[in-house]
Amino acid sequence: AVTRTFSIIKPDATRRNLTGAVTKALEDAGLRVVASKRIHMTNEQAGGFYAVHKERPFYNDLCAFMTSGPVVVQVLEGEDAVKLNRDVMGATNPADAAEGTIRKLFAESIEANSVHGSDSDENAAIEIAFFFKPEEIVG
Ligand code: CMP
Repeated sequence: AVTRTFSIIKPDATRRNLTGAVTKALEDAGLRVVASKRIHMTNEQAGGFYAVHKERPFYNDLCAFMTSGPVVVQVLEGEDAVKLNRDVMGATNPADAAEGTIRKLFAESIEANSVHGSDSDENAAIEIAFFFKPEEIVG
């Protein structure tokens, strides 16, 4: 079925002017950008978005990184979009990411790993609603 997922092009990628390259990789994989905006996340947004990781040792660094520069938040649509997106992103740690994946191609480290993608349809809906109003999504 055609579904939606939520994506973030992270500060390490925007800093290196890779917004287009990352978006092209997503599009080449069969995903369609149905909403997109460039924002500088506040501490409150980063903390809230990553609240599930609050108890993890990397939480504070992660929030600092995600507010260190602009990000591009996107809604992506495609056939089984969550899985399609996760396949093209590659493993969280670029050292483990498969050849040709976005993280293998572009990520700097497990933290500065260039992209975020939702891990389930349920979380995709929550994450999309965190950053977008329904009328900002144009399919
Ligand atoms: P993301 O998919 O956005 O979800 C949580 C983020 O935490 C992850 O990508 C990484 O950017 C970051 N992170 C930093 N260290 C770790 C770690 N050891 N394990 C998992 N995620 C990490």
